[in-house]
Amino acid sequence: MSVQVIVGAQWGDEGKGKIVDHLSKNVDIVARYQGGANAGHTVVIPSKNGQTEREFVLHLIPSGIFHRHVTCVIGNGVVLDPVALMAEIDQLKHMGIKVDGRLLISHNAHLIMPYHKLLDSVREQGEQKIGTTGRGIGPAYIDKYMRSGIRVVDLLDRDVLCRKLKRNIEENNELLSKMYHSKELDVDSIISEYQDFDKKIDDFVTDTSAYLNRSIQKKKKILAEGAQGALLDVDHGTYPYVTSSSPTSGGACTGLGIPPTAVNSVIGVVKAYSTRVGNGPFPTELKDDTGNRLRAIGGEYGATTGRPRRCGWLDLVSLRYSCNINGIERIAITKLDVLDSFTEIKVCVGYRRDGKDLKQFPTDVQTLETVQPVYRTFAGWQIATSSIRRYGDLPMKAQNYIDAVAKMLGTRVWMVSVGARRDQTLIIR
Ligand code: GDP
Ligand code: IMO
Ligand code: MG
Repeated sequence: MSVQVIVGAQWGDEGKGKIVDHLSKNVDIVARYQGGANAGHTVVIPSKNGQTEREFVLHLIPSGIFHRHVTCVIGNGVVLDPVALMAEIDQLKHMGIKVDGRLLISHNAHLIMPYHKLLDSVREQGEQKIGTTGRGIGPAYIDKYMRSGIRVVDLLDRDVLCRKLKRNIEENNELLSKMYHSKELDVDSIISEYQDFDKKIDDFVTDTSAYLNRSIQKKKKILAEGAQGALLDVDHGTYPYVTSSSPTSGGACTGLGIPPTAVNSVIGVVKAYSTRVGNGPFPTELKDDTGNRLRAIGGEYGATTGRPRRCGWLDLVSLRYSCNINGIERIAITKLDVLDSFTEIKVCVGYRRDGKDLKQFPTDVQTLETVQPVYRTFAGWQIATSSIRRYGDLPMKAQNYIDAVAKMLGTRVWMVSVGARRDQTLIIR
């Protein structure tokens, strides 16, 4: 068995890109299993002269792409925006990264169309907005589950594509104009734009489930890269303030077409504090100077939309829940260095509501919005950690913080990250 699943354990942006890039050194395949270009996975790689660093934000292509020996797979569970994909491939090629022959796209992945993006934005104009990334994710998954979606394979047959596109655009135009009083989309121009993608995409398209299952039999090492985070899962997150897919580890099997018996480990990526972009409950949110400091030091602005991320202390109640539903046995703690200058660091160890302790993480929004976090306070270490390269060299107070978190979660800490660069990574043996 050779599949490791990497999941975001919080509300996304935990640093999955960096962790997947790190692990890619020792794997054969990295496969994205859900979400779409709503993801923004940052990888920082040294430039050719080794002196400077280059930062790249990946939205669709798996974060293994910077390792030449790795084959990258976009699985059936992903909703693929061909416009965003082509732009990303061009950017990578521009950087001298070879993509041809190293990227495989599932023939069964659903496509994001212009009407999905438009519907995403008009639906967000009301009172009840989710604060989506505007990338058309929800509407594309609606079509998938409505069984009217257009898949990658449809791009390769012009007649089928034209028929399906015409039907969907006409139907969505009704919705856009009558319900949202929005502009209508032009059927012919979309058909001609999307027909052209068949030539561009053809070489990448294959039955990726069959490829992955063959690779599992050949004992290849596979990383399944989750996007978003467990608390944004459509089933297990803080519904309705969630994304429309399954970022939890179970999503890796349906989103790649591999059996659960092939998965042999699940690694959770945990930021040393909490952030959330968009709306929805966030019990440990700090709307004060401390929150602003976390945002400023951590550079907490969305990698996809540039929105300021909401910031707060680490929340072990939601993390314990996340470890349970994902089966996380090992965690990678990222952005520890962001806490370096704080005199006190708090961790939420329980929730109280109406004077009572809550036994478990409530996913219903009404309850979660009214819980009071119970904090345990740790003394800050107030020493810069970003140049430290061995776990044992971290200040004792930082080690105490990490050990206490691991103990309270009942997981092992496998890695601590003290900076965005590849070398700023401490492995705990
Ligand atoms: P992802 O969506 O989970 O891949 O995370 P993002 O890329 O959206 O956000 C993580 C941000 O933190 C990126 O800008 C990373 O370059 C940066 N980062 C990752 N690990 C560390 C770390 O240990 N310390 C610091 N200071 N930055 C980090
Ligand atoms: P990565 O993979 C953080 C959030 C949006 C919004 C909600 C629904 O970089 O961690 P959507 O566009 O998916 O319909 O928006 O989910 N969201 C993310 N937040 N990181 C992400 O991805 C996210 N992708 C979506 O802000 O609250
Ligand atoms: Mg991100």
